[in-house]
Amino acid sequence: MMYAQVTGWGSALPSRVMTNQDLEKLVETSDEWIRSRTGISERRIAGPKESTSTLAIRAAKYALQVADLNPRELDLVIVATTTPDYPMPSVAALVQDGIGAARAGAFDLNAACSGFVYALSVANGMIASGSAENVLIVGAETLSRWVDWTDRGTCVLFGDGAGALILQRSDLPTGLRSCILGSDGSGASLLNVPAGGTRTPITAEIIQNRQNFIKMKGPEVYRFAVSVMAQAAQQALTAAGMTADDIDLFIPHQANLRIIQSAMKTLKVPPEKVFINVQHYGNTSAASIPIALCEAIAEGRVKAGSNLLLVGFGAGLSWGSAVLNWGVTPSSVTDSWWRSMVRNVQGREAAVRSFALRAHRRLELVGTHALRRFNGWTEA
Ligand code: UT7
Repeated sequence: MMYAQVTGWGSALPSRVMTNQDLEKLVETSDEWIRSRTGISERRIAGPKESTSTLAIRAAKYALQVADLNPRELDLVIVATTTPDYPMPSVAALVQDGIGAARAGAFDLNAACSGFVYALSVANGMIASGSAENVLIVGAETLSRWVDWTDRGTCVLFGDGAGALILQRSDLPTGLRSCILGSDGSGASLLNVPAGGTRTPITAEIIQNRQNFIKMKGPEVYRFAVSVMAQAAQQALTAAGMTADDIDLFIPHQANLRIIQSAMKTLKVPPEKVFINVQHYGNTSAASIPIALCEAIAEGRVKAGSNLLLVGFGAGLSWGSAVLNWGVTPSSVTDSWWRSMVRNVQGREAAVRSFALRAHRRLELVGTHALRRFNGWTEA
């Protein structure tokens, strides 16, 4: 039996902080309203040179550093995101190139805020089936680019960031103990970006009506979130043959403090067993669980042998919950000069490799054109 052990983790957040007070200047809202209804005090907003892929690449590089893994050894890169850099290619392809994962396949996965749990499940399955040995999964979002900054019902909620894990094949029986994935597409219109896809392409009128931004029926999503979070968590516990008492730390999707508290109350989980950082980052969708996990590790709340319960929900509607048995002792990465030099070289190697591949492609094209022209001449 093969298991998928988490051996590396990393997160990346934009440096720009947007506080509730900053939002008071943009829309009719107040710090008091936002904090009391959501628990959010501030969020991070991507700078002009940042995007989903740049945040994902930063998080991935940290995770590789913790795992002490050469990116060339990765077999697969999965990026969970709803806010890709482009409609195509995938963010995962940009990450694969950016970190120099020369041998890896790469694809994006869109399950909105539940995406990271979905990615974890797929990576685990690939490793357990023997199809992959080393997998990078990233949850990354730049929701600030899709938020309507004139809509106070949504713009106060979201933030940008990325979190990544490395999963490696292991004989040790640790890793995913259970995973529940769910979807209810009948609720698709409760949280969506109505235009910009193939059904409703962007037109001047669409932009004027602001249909290319996130729309949400907040109270309906709230009701769904509270019940599905408790339900999915309970199902994952049952599937793992555990109760809430067996879990050392609950790491829920960070959308709203009230949703988390209400779901945890239903599950009878004491607050000290729940990791919360929504106050600092708002809702970062697919990135929220891995960012929270990385912070929980940094705070010493995850140890070898810890049982973690991850639970997410979001657009789709979608949900996912997993019980994860943590297998390694999270020690802080002390970088020897040698390791940091090797990584530096690997970083440059990725850039050089990418440049060389692009140059080769261009030369090939020039060569083909030249050959065609030459053949044309000789045939004429
Ligand atoms: O990742 C999954 C995604 N989403 C979620 O998990 C979000 C789920 N929903 C929620 O978290 C909550 O529904 C919100 C935080 C979005 C809204 O809280 P609420 O308690 O459900 O408020 P509401 O939408 O029922 O609105 C109550 C009032 C309304 O005013 P009136 O009609 O009562 O006069 C809103 O217009 O609050 C008003 N309001 C605001 N006031 C100040 C809505 N947004 C704001 C705001 N500042 N930012």
